[in-house]
Amino acid sequence: MPAHRHIVPARAASGQLTVSESELVEWGEHLGRSSSPPLLVTITGELGAGKTTLAKAICRGYGVAEDVTSPTYSIVQQYSSERSTVYHVDLYRLEASDQLTNIGWDELVSAHALVLVEWPERAGARLPRNHLPIDLSYVPDDPSRRILFAG
Ligand SMILES: Nc1ncnc2c1ncn2[C@@H]1O[C@H](COP(=O)(O)OP(=O)(O)O)[C@@H](O)[C@H]1O
Ligand SMILES: [Mg+2]
Repeated sequence: MPAHRHIVPARAASGQLTVSESELVEWGEHLGRSSSPPLLVTITGELGAGKTTLAKAICRGYGVAEDVTSPTYSIVQQYSSERSTVYHVDLYRLEASDQLTNIGWDELVSAHALVLVEWPERAGARLPRNHLPIDLSYVPDDPSRRILFAG
């Protein structure tokens, strides 16, 4: 069981539930408020599943006051909160794993920080085992809801 399981809000503890966008945002803000560093959160899901929407909500709950944008083109965005530095990483455009070294991946994932990673599967074996995994997937026939799986 991941060490961070206790920070996941109770209603998600048993697995899957479907959420509207506002419910997802509310859940993410709660998760951010309950988080303390160091914490690595991975968010998997297809394009448009809501990974960035959730990452922004977690950042807001964690106390990031700046505007959080999608890091797709820069791979890593760095923010600050009173609790710690926040790294929002999007590995979608990662071409080879030596690029992980260039973005300072090993330092990032071992920093005293909140680290949110979209497309974590692209890090392969360099993804630390101790992380909080979150997955978002589409609901057939309902474009306004997603299946949220955490922990
Ligand atoms: N229940 C939902 N949860 C999250 N996003 C939703 C939901 N329903 C619709 N959306 C829309 O889906 C899109 C998700 O985009 P984004 O968060 O950038 O996805 P990703 O980062 O996974 O590619 C947004 O346009 C958002 O408004
Ligand atoms: Mg995204």
